[in-house]
Amino acid sequence: MKIITSIEEMKKWSRLTRSRGKTIGFVATMGCLHEGHLSLIKTSIAKCDTTAVSIFVNPTQFSPNEDFDSYPKCIESDKQILQTTGTDILFNPNQKDLYPEKFQTFVTVEDKTNYLCGTSRPRFFRGVTTIVLKLINITDPHIAYFGEKDWQQLEVIRTMVHDLNMDVSIVGKPIVRDKDGLAMSSRNCNLSKSEKNSARVLSQALESAQALVIQGERSVENIRTEIRKTIEQKQGTKIDYISVCDPESFTEQTEINSKVLVALAVRIGSTRLIDNRIIGKI
Ligand code: PAJ
Repeated sequence: MKIITSIEEMKKWSRLTRSRGKTIGFVATMGCLHEGHLSLIKTSIAKCDTTAVSIFVNPTQFSPNEDFDSYPKCIESDKQILQTTGTDILFNPNQKDLYPEKFQTFVTVEDKTNYLCGTSRPRFFRGVTTIVLKLINITDPHIAYFGEKDWQQLEVIRTMVHDLNMDVSIVGKPIVRDKDGLAMSSRNCNLSKSEKNSARVLSQALESAQALVIQGERSVENIRTEIRKTIEQKQGTKIDYISVCDPESFTEQTEINSKVLVALAVRIGSTRLIDNRIIGKI
C-alpha cells in the first residue's frame, strides 16, 4: 500500500491509473477504522481494479462546541489494518493543504440538510459536502462508497453528486453492528464499559419500533413514545432527536403508510451516537 499525503501526488496517481484503463474505488473516512469502514473498503476492493481510502478528520464539519479535539485518532493502527486489506492507496492529507489560509468556498445542499443532524449540528453537512467534493475531485474515483449508518449524509452526498453533475457513482452499504447490535462507530472508542452497555439501547429502540409496526401499529406518535420510553430506561442517556421520516426528503411522518426511516441521535454521557433503521408496511 502506498501512502500519499500530497494532493498533487494523489491527482497524479488517479490520472495514471485512469490512463491505464483501471477503475478507481474510493472510501472517505475520518480514521480509527472499524468493521463498518472495512465493509466499504472490502466491497471497493472486490468491485474495482484499485482502491483509495482517505483518512482525514475534517475540521469544517465540527462546530466549535463539538468533539473535533477529542475525536479518536489512531493513524498507526489504521495503517496496519489497511495493509492487510489490499488497499492500494492511503490518502492522508494535511489540514493546511486542504484548507489553506484564505480558503472561502463551501458547498451546501439545501432542503435535506434542514432536518435531523442538520438541526442539531448546524455546520455539519456544509463541512461534509465540501470535503467530500474536494476528496472526489482529488481522487477522481469511478465509484465512491458510503455507509447507511450515516443515512442522511449518504442522501445529501447523492443529492450533491446529482445536482452538480459529478461523474462518480455513489454506492451505499448497510450498517455493520457488533454482536450486541451496537452500530460500529469510531466514537464508540470514547465510551466507557458501562456507557457501551447503555449505547445498545439505540438499536434496541429501533427493534422495538420495528416490532410495533409488525404488530400493526401505524401511529408515529405511539412509535415515538415507545422509542423514548426504551431509551430513557437507561441511565445517562439524553435524546437529541427521534425522527420517523421520509427516507429521502426527511419530512416527519404522522402515519406509517409506506417505508419510513427511523433515525435516532442520543447522547451517552458526552458521546453523541446516531443509528437508524428503515421500517414500514410489509
Ligand atoms: P466516518 O465516520 O469515518 O465514516 C466513514 C464512512 O464509513 C462513512 O461513509 C460512514 O457512513 C461509514 N460507516 C461508519 N460506520 C459504519 C457502520 N457501522 N456500518 C457501515 N458503514 C459505516 O462519515 C464520515 O467519516 C465523514 O463524515 C466523511 C464522509 C469521511 C467526511 O469527512
